[in-house]
Amino acid sequence: MSLHSNAAVATLAPPVSPTPLQTRMSSTIKFGVVGYGYWGPNVVRNLHSMANVDITAVCDKSSDSRKKVHKNHPQIYVTADASEIMTSPEIDAVAIVTPVWTHFELAKTALEHGKHVFVEKPFTSNVRQAEELLELADRKNLEIMVDHTFLFTGAVKKIKQLVQDGLLGKLYYYDSTRVNLGLFQHDINVVWDLAPHDLSILDYVIESNPEALVATGQKHLNGHEDIAFITLYFPDSVIAHVNVNWLSPVKVRTTLIGGEKKMLVWNDLEADEKIKIYDKGVDMNSREGVYELLVSYRSGDMWSPHLEQAEALRLELSYFVKCISENTNPINDGAAGLRIVRMLEASTKSLRKRGALVYL
Ligand SMILES: NC(=O)c1ccc[n+]([C@@H]2O[C@H](COP(=O)([O-])OP(=O)(O)OC[C@H]3O[C@@H](n4cnc5c(N)ncnc54)[C@H](O)[C@@H]3O)[C@@H](O)[C@H]2O)c1
Repeated sequence: MSLHSNAAVATLAPPVSPTPLQTRMSSTIKFGVVGYGYWGPNVVRNLHSMANVDITAVCDKSSDSRKKVHKNHPQIYVTADASEIMTSPEIDAVAIVTPVWTHFELAKTALEHGKHVFVEKPFTSNVRQAEELLELADRKNLEIMVDHTFLFTGAVKKIKQLVQDGLLGKLYYYDSTRVNLGLFQHDINVVWDLAPHDLSILDYVIESNPEALVATGQKHLNGHEDIAFITLYFPDSVIAHVNVNWLSPVKVRTTLIGGEKKMLVWNDLEADEKIKIYDKGVDMNSREGVYELLVSYRSGDMWSPHLEQAEALRLELSYFVKCISENTNPINDGAAGLRIVRMLEASTKSLRKRGALVYL
């Protein structure tokens, strides 16, 4: 059964003279989704529930995954062949929710066929691929959004606002621990799996590129690093440290962000009060004639700001649809994806040399 012969999608046949995508301001955006493993069902569920989106088809190579799509969404057409989605004139945008090593070929094919692309993190396996996709999307005037889901969480939006409003003062550091037992990936190490979350948050919040980084780590089980520590040097003495680990007995998702005026703790596993802001800090003074520094420690109130509760992926996908309709670039566009891949590639270089300093 082909995409065009399926009864469920036959009603979605293209208009006789299709309106160019860029001018379809408020019409429905038709999606094809490739990949229905662990994360794909979340993408499909969210897209499927949006008023201005139709999912025309879902593709997965695995028959078990295709059975799951049938079970969860019996009305959606399912295929094992991604080229059906790529070449369908009915489809405006493709969501790519497959392992990273497949992203480049799938995204390239989608762009070549005039589809907008929503692609999972990390964007591509290397910088060269990301640059090629950016150039292609630019030439074809198509949108790329890279799924940097955390940027759409209430917590990261609040952190961004606090930093932007100057509440924390000059930033000193970002220190994140993102550890748990598994899920081991077969094709990438723990850096490429977990660090994109922190790197995309840093990229969004700090708004400048790191100057250099150091990464150390070790492989124990399947030939890929399962534990790693990345240190990134940003301009203005901002330093970031990211600890990622698949071999931790407990799950920890805690980030400390220190600023001159305030410091915060973000514990993403807390149901309420995920972010706590501390009016704590250190003031250094020196008086004329006094040779030691006068150090005073400030220890004031702690409070927890209210955070938006909506599902981040849903907000992100609605925003993607809006960007397509309005022909605007998302904050997590291909260029943002490229910046993260550049940091990941530099981390790999540093890891291979047991922590050599790599300039970006
Ligand atoms: N944004 C997030 O928070 C988040 C969370 C989890 C995973 N991810 C990302 O999502 C992507 C997928 O991860 P996952 O954990 O769902 O992987 P997965 O292995 O569980 O699922 C991938 C699915 O894609 C299918 N597939 C692979 N190549 C295909 C192809 N060429 N055509 C059709 N189907 C194909 C596989 O059969 C599988 O069902 C990764 O890039 C991962 O980093 C993002």
